[in-house]
Amino acid sequence: MTHDPLIDIQDLQVHFPIKGGLLRRTAGVVKAVDHVSFQIDKNETVGLVGESGCGKSTVGRAIVRLNEATGGKILYQDQDILSLRGEALRKLRHNLQIVFQDPYSSLNPRYTVKRLIAEVLTVQKGYSTSEAYKRVGELLERVGLNPIYAERYPHEFSGGQRQRVAIAKALALEPEFIVCDEAVSALDVSIQSQIINLLTDLKEKYGIAYLFISHALNVIEHISDRVVVMYLGSVMELSETEELFLHPLHPYTRALISAIPMLSGREQRERIVLKGDVPSAANVPPGCRFHTRCPYACDRCRTEQPAMRQAAPGHYVACHQV
Ligand SMILES: Nc1ncnc2c1ncn2[C@@H]1O[C@H](COP(=O)(O)OP(=O)(O)OP(=O)(O)O)[C@@H](O)[C@H]1O
Ligand code: SF4
Ligand SMILES: [Mg+2]
Repeated sequence: MTHDPLIDIQDLQVHFPIKGGLLRRTAGVVKAVDHVSFQIDKNETVGLVGESGCGKSTVGRAIVRLNEATGGKILYQDQDILSLRGEALRKLRHNLQIVFQDPYSSLNPRYTVKRLIAEVLTVQKGYSTSEAYKRVGELLERVGLNPIYAERYPHEFSGGQRQRVAIAKALALEPEFIVCDEAVSALDVSIQSQIINLLTDLKEKYGIAYLFISHALNVIEHISDRVVVMYLGSVMELSETEELFLHPLHPYTRALISAIPMLSGREQRERIVLKGDVPSAANVPPGCRFHTRCPYACDRCRTEQPAMRQAAPGHYVACHQV
């Protein structure tokens, strides 16, 4: 498959200082994202999966510049967006949007939907108020909401409808790329599939690319073209979706997949239960960072970090033993 990268993440690092003591000196560092590289193609949905705290949101937030990167590059349209400031950064934000799990975080509860979305258009795009209001109706229709809902406040919607409003707001600036950070995780299963279908329709109609972040592998499988599996700040495996679910290679991915109840038509794999807890990102184990929980860990795993290598076309894995 040929790739046409829209976003090229190269060796991204995001570290957070741990402040301690009376003088709030830096007492250590949380390596939330530790040398992560992958690409997102135009009009592609890349799923990003891994347990809580593995750094998924931090990657997504770094792309839209809500978290400052400690190192590495993120290329978009051939420029490193991590160095953009001022007007150039403001323009970039038109093209790269983010939708969160809790739409309240991006929807001011005191504004009607009409005002919320129109404000984006008047401030960012210089629309007149009447032009902006007209466009709000079109945007609501795009996300499957009746334009008369424009007069409502965020709390007057159901969870699924509110997420549609957040998506309409993200679409207002006609982005090429949207980070969906656990965007369906708080919704009932039936509503989840409606929102996933909406995102898929929008992708087809407007050529949008997504980084779809979720800890739920079944949702990731459903929506993604390719999947990136993260553990403790680092990428363990990366592959096209079907290949990953049919031939998971990394012991961590295999453990995650073995925990999904299989629907009809697919063999239930033997459940692999991981021992212990995820170590702290402030104290990453040496060698393979997964070795403290891996059933196959050997001496080499405890000292030498496995490099990412291509095991099959487009299928990359970081493990000494596959
Ligand atoms: N602003 C911050 N300051 C300090 N540490 C942070 C900050 N944001 C995230 N972290 C830490 O970075 C690590 C990665 O967090 P992140 O939120 O990216 O994980 P996640 O994979 O999105 O988890 P979840 O599935 O729970 O949303 C965690 O150890 C977290 O505690
Ligand atoms: S490198 Fe070793 S510890 Fe890490 S996943 Fe592979 S077998 Fe397990
Ligand atoms: Mg998160």
